[in-house]
Amino acid sequence: MSRKLLIDTDTASDDAVALLMALRHPDVDVVAITVVSGNVPLQQGVINALVTAELCDSEVPVYAGAGNPLLREPAYAEWFHGPDGMGDQNYPPPKRAAESTHAVDAIIDTLDNVADIEVVTLGPLTNLALALKLKPSLAEKVKKCYIMGGAPCTIGNVTPAAEFNIWVDPEAAQIVFQSGMTIEMVGWHLCRGEANLRPDDIDLVRSFDTPYAHFTIDCNHTAMEANRIQSGEIGIPLPDPTTMAIVLDPSICTERSNHHVQIETQSELTRGMTVVDQLNVFDDERNRDVWSPGGVNGPEITICWKFDVKRWKALLYRLLQ
Ligand code: BDR
Ligand code: CA
Repeated sequence: MSRKLLIDTDTASDDAVALLMALRHPDVDVVAITVVSGNVPLQQGVINALVTAELCDSEVPVYAGAGNPLLREPAYAEWFHGPDGMGDQNYPPPKRAAESTHAVDAIIDTLDNVADIEVVTLGPLTNLALALKLKPSLAEKVKKCYIMGGAPCTIGNVTPAAEFNIWVDPEAAQIVFQSGMTIEMVGWHLCRGEANLRPDDIDLVRSFDTPYAHFTIDCNHTAMEANRIQSGEIGIPLPDPTTMAIVLDPSICTERSNHHVQIETQSELTRGMTVVDQLNVFDDERNRDVWSPGGVNGPEITICWKFDVKRWKALLYRLLQ
């Protein structure tokens, strides 16, 4: 039986490749794509999701969701993904439109009614947080929620302290992380360096000569240049597809452990920081007042620490041919 996935995305160039991977995987049924403001304004993200579904000949329903973070002004990443989020490739407009149902209602309905549903989030967590606010019991309905986001004990990519998806809407992230849902977090630390598609990898992908392969490289060309400017790395950064590889084959993650995680929402300096209690000290007497006030212990989150770069790329290549 196929695994059922709901994918929430701020669809830009790396999200598009992650969607493509899930839509083309033979053992997966993507039951809904819900779009949130993030990399690009909401309506552009919807267009990008529909363009990607069309490339894959998929009729998956696409729903538009929150156009703003819960409390903050929207912040986009056009500087990274290009003005349309897709490297300005002039893709023809999609033939169909988004469904009329709001993404938050679609999330509630899907999580409530589809057995063994798994959720994959590739953008800010606004849509999922709104759904959980309206119906907290949804947390128990989700078999597992994979989150691309955060920078556990490491370097941020939007500020020194934070990864983009969590930084954009830290209040939403805190709601989701404390909801009790079974969560596996794939942070940005996994998606750098050797995880990038290096020039040799890009040549190999081009040699497949399929529409999926060319799409992957073309729409990410702005991101490749932004990556070079930001981190000096020569290669296409693919955080969302890296996460999707772990969703599609969890054994690609080779080291994971469970910890309490808090999201910084108060400080502007460390806004959106994912603070992981690696040594389990949150509940020490000296920390209790701040870290577990009133004796309330938050749920544990699974953190992916390491993954198999060769196998992530092999899975990507298989799905691009
Ligand atoms: C995340 O932010 C976005 O730019 C990417 O799509 C990815 O979801 C990486 O920090
Ligand atoms: Ca994304």
